[in-house]
Amino acid sequence: GLLIVLAVLLSYLLGAVPAGTWVARLRGVDIRTVGSGNSGATNVQRSLGWGPGLMVGCFDILKGGLAVWLARQLHLSESVAALCGLCAVLGHNFSVFSGFRGGKGVATSFGVLLLIDPLAGAAIFPIAFCVMYLTRYVSAGSMVGAVSALVIEAALNRPWWELLISLILAALMFYQHRQNIVRLRLGTESRFGQRVAAPA
Ligand code: G3P
Repeated sequence: GLLIVLAVLLSYLLGAVPAGTWVARLRGVDIRTVGSGNSGATNVQRSLGWGPGLMVGCFDILKGGLAVWLARQLHLSESVAALCGLCAVLGHNFSVFSGFRGGKGVATSFGVLLLIDPLAGAAIFPIAFCVMYLTRYVSAGSMVGAVSALVIEAALNRPWWELLISLILAALMFYQHRQNIVRLRLGTESRFGQRVAAPA
């Protein structure tokens, strides 16, 4: 009981580490005020370039994976490990270190999925990548990826708790992308490769 509470809390705090905000701040940029205003890898890449973008992406993937790994080290069940992964995404999206704001949970969810279901994780990568490549919308690729994970897990007859966690992750992903969805419908969503003006 207590161990589960501890793991869940630790996972939230791990996810809450605002890598994007910090990396941008090291470059003298307030990521909330440039591009989409999001603190994720996409907006860091858009605003500061590939190096910082990749760094943030890798770090945010690691946060999700590490939460699941940590739960396993504590010999907690796979369903609790998946719950810890969800908590890392919640920490990332609603970070106690960023006034309960944060990113959209794309990289962190991917890190979680890669550990709880490597096959599904590997399968959604080319799907999301193709959508991103063809549309140039990272947001669209991310949401298609989240739904694909659910479909693939159902096709693979995965346990109910894995589908439940993935359903919540997908719902969170759509909720966090609500402004992107508006922009996609209006045709004003920024395409990948469109750089924003470098901040002074
Ligand atoms: O990284 C999240 C991505 O799906 C969208 O990011 O900055 O374009 O809102 P952004």
